[in-house]
Amino acid sequence: MKKQLLDKFEEMYGSAEGAEVYFAPGRVNLIGEHTDYNGGHVFPCALTLGTYAAVKRRDDDLLRFFSMNFENVGVIESSLSDLKPYEEAGWTNYPKGVMWAFEQRGMKIPNGMDIVLFGNIPNGSGLSSSASLEVLTGFILRDLFGFDVTNQDLALIGQFSENQFNGCNCGIMDQFASAMGKKDHAIFLDTASLEFEYAPLVLDGMKIVVTNSKVKHSLVDSAYNDRRNSCERALKDLQTVCGIHSLGELNEAEFEQAKNSIKDPDDRLKAKHAVYENQRTLKAVEALKANDLTTFGQLMNASHVSLRDDYEVSCEEIDTLVDAAWKVDGVVGSRITGGGFGGCTVSIVKDEAVETFKAALSQAYKKAYDKEPEFYVVEAGDGPYKL
Ligand code: GLA
Repeated sequence: MKKQLLDKFEEMYGSAEGAEVYFAPGRVNLIGEHTDYNGGHVFPCALTLGTYAAVKRRDDDLLRFFSMNFENVGVIESSLSDLKPYEEAGWTNYPKGVMWAFEQRGMKIPNGMDIVLFGNIPNGSGLSSSASLEVLTGFILRDLFGFDVTNQDLALIGQFSENQFNGCNCGIMDQFASAMGKKDHAIFLDTASLEFEYAPLVLDGMKIVVTNSKVKHSLVDSAYNDRRNSCERALKDLQTVCGIHSLGELNEAEFEQAKNSIKDPDDRLKAKHAVYENQRTLKAVEALKANDLTTFGQLMNASHVSLRDDYEVSCEEIDTLVDAAWKVDGVVGSRITGGGFGGCTVSIVKDEAVETFKAALSQAYKKAYDKEPEFYVVEAGDGPYKL
C-alpha cells in the first residue's frame, strides 16, 4: 500500500522524496446506536479498513489534494488562507475542516502540503470513511507540525469540524472509534464523560461479518438531525418531571414512569429507543465479558427491532438482509449498524456458517432487489499510525 501511494504521489507531484504515508481506520458499531448524542454508551471497534494518505509538506500555504478513489476528478487545489467549505471542493472539505478546526483551537498550520489519498472503505457504506479521513488529517498535522494533541483530542477536533464545517450534527462515536482503536478490542465508551474501556473481542469460533446493502438513501443528514431534535425535545419534556441532563441517565423503569411527560408521541418513541438502547449496550458488554455470546446476539437483534420500529432509521433493503440473517443457523445476532437509512448490517456468525450466511443473504437480496450485497469479514484494528 505504501509503495502504491508513493508511486502515485511521484506521478502526480513530481517527486515523493520526503513524503510520509499514514493510515486511520473506519469503524463498525456492534451495539449502542443513536445513543452517542444522548449521553449514552456505544460499543464500536476500529476496522483494519480505512483511509491512507501520502503527504509532503510544502514551503508555501498551498494545499493540493488527489484521491486515488476519484482519479478522474484530478488534483483539487486550495490554500491555508481559504479554509472554507465549498460544494465543488467535494471530499477535500473534510481535511480542510480539520485544518480549520486546528486553527480555531489556536494551532496555526505553518505550511501547506501535497496529499495523495486512498480509502478502502466502500463509499457511503456507513463505516465512517469521513471520520477516518478527519482523524487521519489530525494525525498528519500532529506528526508534521508537532502539535500537542492527544488521540482523544483528534476525535473531538474531527467531530467539531464535521459539526461546524461540514454541517452534520454527528456525535462522537465514529471519530473516537477511529482515533482510539485497538487491535482485537472493542471500545466501551460512555459518551457523557468520555470514560472508556477496551473490551477484548474474544469471539471463539465466530466472525464479525459486515454486509453492505450498497444503498444510500438521500436526505440522510437531515433525517439524522431530525432524530436528534426529537430526542432533544423529549429530554426537555422529561426535565419537567425529573432532574436529568441526558436520556442516557434513565433506565427502562425510570423512563416508563416519566414518559408521559413527553408531549409528542413520536418524540416519546425516539426517546424510548435512546434509553432502551443504552441499557442494551450496558447489558451486551456484561454479556461479552461473561463470554455469553447468545445474550449478546439477542441484544443485537433487539437493537435492530428498535431501530427499525421505534427510531425508524432502517429501510427495506437492510431489513431484508437482517431478516435473512436471522433465519440462518449459526447466526448469533444481526442488526443495522451506523447512522442508518441504508449502509451496512453487522452480524456475528459462527465460522462454519459464514458461507451459508453469505449465500442466504445474497439469494434473498437478489430475489428482492436484483442486486448483490457485499460481505466483509472484519477484524478489530488499531487507531491511526504512520506506515
Ligand atoms: C453516525 C454518527 C454517529 C452516531 C451514529 C448512530 O454514524 O456519525 O455519531 O450517532 O450515526 O449511532
